[in-house]
Amino acid sequence: MPVVGFHQARRPRQSPGARLRREFSWPRPGGVLISFVGAALVVGGALGLADSPGQAAAPDPAISTVLRTTPDASLKPSPPAPLSTLVTTDTPAPFLRSSPSASTSAVPKLSVSGGSAAPLTPVATPPAPAIKGAAESSPAHKLFTSGASVPSDQSLLNIFNPNSPLVLVNKHHPLAPVTYSPSDLVVPAVPVGSGEPGLLRAEAAQAAERMFAAAATQGVHLTLLSSYRSYDTQMGLYNSYVVNKGTAAADTTSARPGFSEHQSGLAIDIGDAGASTACEFHSCFAETAGAQWVAAHAQEHGFVVRYVPGSESTTGYLAEPWHLRYVGVAVAEDMLVRGFHSYEEYLGLPGAPGYK
Ligand code: DAL
Ligand code: ZN
Repeated sequence: MPVVGFHQARRPRQSPGARLRREFSWPRPGGVLISFVGAALVVGGALGLADSPGQAAAPDPAISTVLRTTPDASLKPSPPAPLSTLVTTDTPAPFLRSSPSASTSAVPKLSVSGGSAAPLTPVATPPAPAIKGAAESSPAHKLFTSGASVPSDQSLLNIFNPNSPLVLVNKHHPLAPVTYSPSDLVVPAVPVGSGEPGLLRAEAAQAAERMFAAAATQGVHLTLLSSYRSYDTQMGLYNSYVVNKGTAAADTTSARPGFSEHQSGLAIDIGDAGASTACEFHSCFAETAGAQWVAAHAQEHGFVVRYVPGSESTTGYLAEPWHLRYVGVAVAEDMLVRGFHSYEEYLGLPGAPGYK
């Protein structure tokens, strides 16, 4: 049964000024990495920097010692290393375009005084922050410790923080508090499937607008079918599933109140205006141009298809090719590049097939 008509009735609770799209400093396409490349190009060859900005190889001890202690006129810096020796191919470009301060933390900083033969001194840098709640061995952890952009508010590097785009919401991790409601909900300027405007957190709304516009330029006309849902709205929706299908089946398709990504204001359900509405919220939506476009491009705008086929035992839900979750560009692209199909696995956490 298509699930329609549950779009939230809530209106923005904010002043008009609050509708200005606020963003914190997550990575954005178009940035450039410049702060350390110059120094790295000069000394990269001599120090043997690894091919990843996040994994600088330990300098050869002998060479390092020479560089630190022996100003020798004959010791000229190596010619600039090819960029390919500094940039690993399995590291997505957005990391390189992320905040310079974070990027530099992964590479020994070199102070250069005087001419080309001046001693070069590595400067210790504090470790980059990691994500609270993610496993230390996880790709997510590595992303932020290896130089990816970090938010200026480091409390957002916390999968338990409902105000963070990194928040993990699944059957093991309800929002806290379970009645959480975002404070920065706005109406995204995107076509809506039912005619009823949706709500999203400001950053996700802006990303959705960019994504819908990008799809439209390629002839794919996405529609917004559902977005933010309050605790009460989710309860009504979940209960309708229970009445129609029973609890076990309901739990494979609808989250219980407090356990839905929609309540975070970071999730959307999409339709395709060029496809039959009969496939909205049904598995045949996967065949539509809209579903195929977001599967290929959503990450460019910070979204991931959250519930994919094959990950049911991890996510706890049947595949939903229409359900997109905003996690920010760096994470979304890293997940795709590294081949992770669930956010749980990307965080290095166990799956959440059922409620505890
Ligand atoms: N359909 C997804 C799992 C939700 O209810 O949040
Ligand atoms: Zn959804």
